[in-house]
Amino acid sequence: MIRLGVNVDHVATLRQARRIDTPDPVQAALLAERGGADGITVHLREDRRHIQERDVELLRERVRTKLNLEMAVTEEMVRLAERFRPDDACFVPERREELTTEGGLDVVAHRARIKEAVKRFQAHGIRVSLFIDPERSQIEASREAGAHGVEIHTGRYCDASGDKTRELEQVAAAAALAHRLGLEVHGGHGLNYQNVLPIARIPEIVELNIGHSIVARAVMVGMERAVGEMKQILRTARE
Ligand code: PXP
Repeated sequence: MIRLGVNVDHVATLRQARRIDTPDPVQAALLAERGGADGITVHLREDRRHIQERDVELLRERVRTKLNLEMAVTEEMVRLAERFRPDDACFVPERREELTTEGGLDVVAHRARIKEAVKRFQAHGIRVSLFIDPERSQIEASREAGAHGVEIHTGRYCDASGDKTRELEQVAAAAALAHRLGLEVHGGHGLNYQNVLPIARIPEIVELNIGHSIVARAVMVGMERAVGEMKQILRTARE
């Protein structure tokens, strides 16, 4: 079966809105594992807007499935990843000039730097995938950079309104090419309960990383119970 990596960044986004210690992305990760997640994904951003270094440290200790660290290809991030030793790393663009027009990492333009970072990671036994648009040139460059795999950016497919056939075919063709070149194929970005199925049916894709829609759904399915628990406490105040 296809693997599900659950991205808990947005649990940390909610915590950082108050700069206190709840909700805790580590606790969310453990609950996600209980729900069947095959891996936990977090993105340590340069501005630390959601996930903090301490979160990654704790996740490294407590995640029992596998930990996938998304990060920019900067010297600072490479050093942090060498310290945290995630099972997997996914290189994503952080600055505008590293982005392709659609939003994936521009491996063609930054091939040498990416190749060097991939080599350092793989020497530590960390598998590296590159988050790229579904384009032949980016897939071929990823292969040349020595990556273990690619994560195909599904944003264009998710954002397309109406008939998504063309965008779906682009993802499917990219997955087939990457697989033929010996790359492991993942997908992610913008996937939700309504649009995930056609992507999950692409046979070469072995892993999907999904964050926002799952965290958003968790808020909704948990709301009734959360309010009920608060009402129960209030009831006891006047007993
Ligand atoms: N994969 C990568 C490489 C990402 O950067 C993100 C967003 O952080 C995701 C998957 C998850 O995207 P979403 O939150 O839209 O499900």
